[in-house]
Amino acid sequence: MKIGNLELENNIFLAPMAGITDLPFRLICKENGAGLVYTEMVSAKALLYGDEKTKLLLKTCKEERPLAVQIFGSDLEAIAYASKYVSKIGDIVDINMGCPAPKIVKNGDGSKLLLNLDLVEKIVKTAVENSEVPVTVKMRLGWDSENIVAVEAAKIIEKAGASAITVHGRTRSQYYSRTGRLEYDKKSKRKCKYSCYW
Ligand SMILES: Cc1cc2nc3c(=O)[nH]c(=O)nc-3n(C[C@H](O)[C@H](O)[C@H](O)COP(=O)(O)O)c2cc1C
Repeated sequence: MKIGNLELENNIFLAPMAGITDLPFRLICKENGAGLVYTEMVSAKALLYGDEKTKLLLKTCKEERPLAVQIFGSDLEAIAYASKYVSKIGDIVDINMGCPAPKIVKNGDGSKLLLNLDLVEKIVKTAVENSEVPVTVKMRLGWDSENIVAVEAAKIIEKAGASAITVHGRTRSQYYSRTGRLEYDKKSKRKCKYSCYW
């Protein structure tokens, strides 16, 4: 599998999980065969402001490579700075457009971005311009059942220069619910035994 110019050993990815996918966890997954591992999401603004605790989330080592570093944010100056910064650390810069947490969406970040596709385009272009490595996006289906934008957003993101897109098959209002998944399975007329990516 290839993402941009990056060759991966296989297509088994460790999904980014805040509070879970720290360096020791990633190394365990790597040792057990993961082809690509993701950091927890990291605040682009916190990096811009030089927050030392945030920088600790970026601790890495050669044994876990290749590494995707996930950033979140909606401020273009912060995205530009963070993309440049983390592209010197990891092999992929991934932008979070799926986080449903109130403390994230209240700032217009994470899944809230799916209600503003003009800004989505600007964010991806800014990241691509500033990153030395491929830029990818992880998003949800949309904000809610009235706003399913995954296909429209994917076209915009691809055109803006992203090298890959991951879709978490729920809307923001479905959070992590099982119900949402079953509805989506029914609509797409197929069952997917793997839980994470389509
Ligand atoms: C504890 C936890 C933390 C998560 N943190 C992130 C995150 O930081 N960034 C992200 O893009 N997705 C995050 N996710 C979403 C997962 O990467 C994944 O897309 C989601 O759990 C769907 O897979 P599942 O149906 O198997 O749970 C998180 C999920 C969980 C359960």
